[in-house]
Amino acid sequence: MASATASEPGVPPIASQKIAAAAQAIDPYNVSGGTDEHGNAVAIDYDRLVQEFGTQLLTPDHLARFEKVTGKPAHRLMRRGVFFSHRDFDKILDAYERDGTFMLYTGRGPSSGSMHLGHTVPFLFTKELQELFDVPLVIMMTDDEKYLHTRNKNEGRQKPGNTVEDFIAFAHENIKDIIALGFDPKKTFIYTDYEYLGGHFYRNVSEFESMVTLSQSFGAMGFKMEYNIGLPAYGAKQCVAAFPSSYPELFGLPDSRYPTWDPAAKMRHKSLSKIMTLIPCAIDQEPYFRILRDRCERMTDPHPKTALILSKFLTALQGAGGKMSASDANSAIFMSDTPNQIKKKINSHAFSGGRETAEEQRELGGNPDVDVAYTYLSYFLDSDEELEALATRYRSGDLLTGEMKAKCIAELQSFVADFQKRRESVTDEVMRSFMRPRKLEFKGNPNPTKPAAPAVEEGGAANGEAKEGGKDGRGTKGERKAAKLAEKKAEKEAEKLALRQKAEA
Ligand code: TRP
Repeated sequence: MASATASEPGVPPIASQKIAAAAQAIDPYNVSGGTDEHGNAVAIDYDRLVQEFGTQLLTPDHLARFEKVTGKPAHRLMRRGVFFSHRDFDKILDAYERDGTFMLYTGRGPSSGSMHLGHTVPFLFTKELQELFDVPLVIMMTDDEKYLHTRNKNEGRQKPGNTVEDFIAFAHENIKDIIALGFDPKKTFIYTDYEYLGGHFYRNVSEFESMVTLSQSFGAMGFKMEYNIGLPAYGAKQCVAAFPSSYPELFGLPDSRYPTWDPAAKMRHKSLSKIMTLIPCAIDQEPYFRILRDRCERMTDPHPKTALILSKFLTALQGAGGKMSASDANSAIFMSDTPNQIKKKINSHAFSGGRETAEEQRELGGNPDVDVAYTYLSYFLDSDEELEALATRYRSGDLLTGEMKAKCIAELQSFVADFQKRRESVTDEVMRSFMRPRKLEFKGNPNPTKPAAPAVEEGGAANGEAKEGGKDGRGTKGERKAAKLAEKKAEKEAEKLALRQKAEA
């Protein structure tokens, strides 16, 4: 990275004592750009990260093809390089053109009950993809992962407010926040691991666990021998969550769960293993999915390698080198913040790329590239022209830091206020409607070139599986009838349960 001196705009003061520099460290449990020999945080070097991880960069060609396939301009987060890297993104576009559909999968670790601005970024992008492609989406809430991780951080102790039940409650709060971002209930399934894992999902977990050695898990995640045994095993769950065959009911096929166990669910459904998956996520999750991709084709029912589209992190208020973090209240803007809190945080904490004084700025200009207010605008302001004009005027000294911050404050206040209004109407009932395993309704590509692709069932009958006919992969007539019956029964049970809960309340 280019070295900078303190007199340049946007360069934080340098600590004077010399200590050992720390290297950049990024994995699902650490996100740090490292420190220099003075102990100052260094901005994350994404080019190096991409090299290290061996992922590809998203190019203008990808954007052009994306726009051609969807007929719509690419989302601003893609245009502006927040989503900047991928694996097999082209193959997802191929699958959409050819088969007509794919599955979207993303998730969140509910480490607390409140979400901040940074947490909304992958979800906003995912929502846009769901709308553009009209495909099913699963959102995994890893209450189990966060329980294990938190307990590990506390040297094995369970602190008050950190029980399994607490993490389930955090997940529920987060789910309501996610719903308030505007997902379509017809094509979105949201679940917490503690509540959902079982059935065919758990069969995939076991099979996957058997293909990952301890040393592979430790190597990819930076685990140590002192860690609890839950963490290295958890990864298999996050991985097989990418397989459509983990969620037969979303595709109208039966699962093997109490109390609606259906004989047609004796085997996992081979037809579902043909559907491709795209995971939009921040790049710290890539180590999991590297392990996943290497094993997709070794499953009993081989799955195509999962595709990834990867984002950078939302910069902390303090500037590059850190990401917004829920555990540091001053680094983040929370989705529950009041307009006044937003204003105060931006005004007093947002790192500025401007000059010391207004006169200096008028004369020499500021640096929008390191200016946090401008950076946030680049995530949330949709108009390219407006954004471009802000940058140009900032550089020329025509726009002052206070003005950039005011623009940012107004934009974030309106985003957060709209969110809070929608959040009010997300009741427990609404939440549960997203969490009920049910057949999702999606159309995908209206004109696929080879829509029959998912129906090719080799060896299904040979290994004892009920043959899944139907060129759309919806299963045989018998299976569909059984699934319908099971669904009706489940609905009745849910109704009864709701009535009972009402009576109890
Ligand atoms: N491990 C993730 C976290 O801590 C949660 C997660 C599970 C996830 N599955 C995912 C994130 C898929 C992105 C994509 O936040």
